[in-house]
Amino acid sequence: KKILFATSEAVPFIKTGGLADVAGSLPKFFDKEKYDVRVMLPKYMCMKESWKEKLQYKTHFYMDLGWRTQYVGVLETEYEGVTFYFIDNEFYFNGFAPYGEMYTDVEKFSFFSKAVLSALPVIDFRPDIIHCHDWQTGLIPIFLDNFRYSNEYYRGIKTVMTIHNLKFQGMWDAKKVRDITGLPEYYFVPDKLTSYDDANMLKGGIVYADKVTTVSSSYAEEIKTPFYGEKLEGLMQARSASLSGIVNGIDYDVYNPQTDKDIYRNYSVENFRKEKIKNKIELQKELGLAQDHKKLMIGIVSRLTDQKGFDLIACVMDELCQDAIQIVALGTGEEQYENMFRHYAWKYPDKVSANIYYSEAMSHKVYAACDAFLMPSLFEPCGLSQLMSLRYGTVPIVRETGGLKDTVEPYNEYEKTGTGFSFANYNAHEMMATVRYAEKIYYDKKRDWNKIVERGMSKDFSWNSSAKQYEELYDDM
Ligand code: ADP
Ligand code: GLC
Repeated sequence: KKILFATSEAVPFIKTGGLADVAGSLPKFFDKEKYDVRVMLPKYMCMKESWKEKLQYKTHFYMDLGWRTQYVGVLETEYEGVTFYFIDNEFYFNGFAPYGEMYTDVEKFSFFSKAVLSALPVIDFRPDIIHCHDWQTGLIPIFLDNFRYSNEYYRGIKTVMTIHNLKFQGMWDAKKVRDITGLPEYYFVPDKLTSYDDANMLKGGIVYADKVTTVSSSYAEEIKTPFYGEKLEGLMQARSASLSGIVNGIDYDVYNPQTDKDIYRNYSVENFRKEKIKNKIELQKELGLAQDHKKLMIGIVSRLTDQKGFDLIACVMDELCQDAIQIVALGTGEEQYENMFRHYAWKYPDKVSANIYYSEAMSHKVYAACDAFLMPSLFEPCGLSQLMSLRYGTVPIVRETGGLKDTVEPYNEYEKTGTGFSFANYNAHEMMATVRYAEKIYYDKKRDWNKIVERGMSKDFSWNSSAKQYEELYDDM
């Protein structure tokens, strides 16, 4: 079977969040005898030069999009056995980041979606299934439907639409989107592409895809309800027979405390008791925190948005800082949260370290050095950070939602089970009580704590089992 992933980001080429981890690493884990999985993404000018240099020109052609005629270049490279295609157009993909203002992004990804389909006959790769990811590729199933009428080549190609985050839907004035895309009026009705007066690219993808998936089973259920449904709960209910949740994994070669070159000291489940601490001391030194290997160090690595529960943290941060803990935050995003961490780092320089930037290497150091990892998300389709934490023996403290609920088993002190700590309600004091419970176990029952670490490190959240489930899904189609 031939499968094409269409995505707006993929590691190692370009990443803003978990989508890139998934789209870039999952293709490696399919059974190569049976599945030829390739990836197509935009060639952004903001990609690192060292990656751009590796891309080889394959072909180019011109494509109509609305009233414009556009250049479409196709470049290619192979990375760890997977073929990656890059769609080149310097008018659209010239920003300092993959995404910008919504009105430019809508046109940019309309272009990308049509270009993906138009490129297939030119590069001579006809997939059986196009696997679309998030709103940026939502128009692919629609364009495909449209292409089929006039072009036999496209008949029989199936589509999967994976929702990594239902909050982002790619919406813009329907008239403008009609003008930009050149799609017929036929699609611009409420049971297809539009909601109210807007065209909604993710909705279009969900309506037209053969199968719809999300990145955890709990999130697949949650989005059928108004609280999580982002106004599409009705559609999610309507499509529930074709909707399933497949939990993400992480790349166990990249995220491996035994071999990771970014961390100060390598360790494993056998020797973490002695070796992991050395990472903590080095990080305390590097970040200028009080050097004390006994202090409970809590890590945060995240986009700083309300999705991730920073309102809860902001609410009780001052109180939390009275405890015997240290907090290391790494992230960028909304100014209010960036400044919140800066403020507390200023107020409690020995205890709080605010690292308001993006760094892959620093993220690995935080995962390795901390004792616990805080992720009290308002909603979480899957979440990868908690999986990385488990892998590095860093105990997750999470809210029971979406993928967090599916991957972190709450500690039970009577049965001596569980891999982390969790709470149910989106409530700051409930979160704080959970953090304090974790503190109690860490300081008073170190043996039990170490067992939690051990159980977490022994879990398998590599891609193997999720890749199998995607294979089954493709086979069913
Ligand atoms: P989301 O995709 O919603 O942002 P995930 O938990 O699925 O959340 O994935 C987030 C990914 O981005 C993880 O790989 C995490 O380590 C990484 N990440 C987030 N912020 C930063 C940062 N400031 N520096 C480095 N990596 C980051
Ligand atoms: C989204 C979600 C996150 C998920 C990631 C990869 O960014 O917010 O929960 O892990 O996609 O699927």
